[in-house]
Amino acid sequence: MKRLLKWVGYVLGGIVAIVLLIIAGVYAVSGQRINKRYPTKVETVAVPGDSVSIERGHHLVFAVGRCVSCHGDNLAGQTLVDNLLMARLASSNLTRGKGGVGSTYTNADWVRSIRYGVRSDGKPLLFMPSFVFYYFSDADLGTIIAYLNSIPPADSEKAKTRIGPIGRALSLFTDFPLIPAERVPRNTTRPAAVPTGVTKEYGEYLINTGGCRSCHTSNLSGGAKIAGVVSANLTPTGIGKWSEADFMKAIRTGVRPDGRILSAVMPWSDMKYLTDDELRAMWMYLQTVPATQKGG
Ligand code: HEC
Ligand code: HEC
Repeated sequence: MKRLLKWVGYVLGGIVAIVLLIIAGVYAVSGQRINKRYPTKVETVAVPGDSVSIERGHHLVFAVGRCVSCHGDNLAGQTLVDNLLMARLASSNLTRGKGGVGSTYTNADWVRSIRYGVRSDGKPLLFMPSFVFYYFSDADLGTIIAYLNSIPPADSEKAKTRIGPIGRALSLFTDFPLIPAERVPRNTTRPAAVPTGVTKEYGEYLINTGGCRSCHTSNLSGGAKIAGVVSANLTPTGIGKWSEADFMKAIRTGVRPDGRILSAVMPWSDMKYLTDDELRAMWMYLQTVPATQKGG
């Protein structure tokens, strides 16, 4: 009996040691990635001061980039998750109030963080979807910065970020976008600017800058599990039988043509500021993407 207990002890001890080693490994590798520097040369983006441009920036922040879903309606930042094992992630205060970055940020700082997900010290921003905003043209990014410079200051200190063991493991072994700077297509030529209009080209621009691909996958065929809900196939294999009106109704009201309600994981209620023309352009583009099986 005593010998058996001893063996059980050895085995349990061995298992604990292996688990601790794995956790130590996960911390070491993820820590290295979180502390890695990304030297980033930023483009000079002109920041306009006229009211039409600021209004355009307002629209891009609310409707297209949906910055407010994470940074809050007053853009003063908020805690997004606070879980011991997962992470404490908070978005930044973008205003010029206390705790905000607006008072110290230069134009280059705005471009580096929004377009590349990199802080001024070269470290990556965590969970800030710059691989999506990379696609904003210089002109549009300029209006976003102009708008952010115009918002009223709000005081709010950002909670300290802390990534727990599960958050770290997810960032290593799954698609969880903890370090967006890794996914920004660097060292490639910038995509050409696309004129606004009800065109499939502008629809593609809105799909790219609207982050649809981060949940519906790069070819929009869906099949990714997001917070427990599988994203839909937006190619003609998935919604090819829908009409433009069906698409607009689904985004505006969260109700599909067959009456089924869309899960709140699909942020349709945050897309309410998109104009009808923008939705039409997106629909035009979706009709032209290659028909692909879900997850294909
Ligand atoms: C999915 C959530 C999410 C969305 C959407 C989002 N952000 Fe962020 N953003 C974050 C988080 C989280 C941080 C803090 C990252 C950190 O501290 O590591 C952040 C940080 C930033 C920073 C860096 C500020 C600093 O602390 O230096 C800027 C600038 C910024 N966001 C601008 C924007 C703009 C502009 C948009 C819309 C075009 C936007 N964000 C949309 C989550 C988001
Ligand atoms: C945060 C993740 C996320 C983002 C971002 C997102 N979606 Fe979705 N979307 C989903 C999920 C998940 C579903 C499936 C919902 C369900 O099954 O109830 C879905 C469903 C849909 C549907 C319904 C299709 C069907 O067959 O039922 C449409 C249309 C749609 N999304 C369009 C878009 C567009 C356009 C964008 C970008 C502007 C977008 N989505 C961005 C997660 C997302």
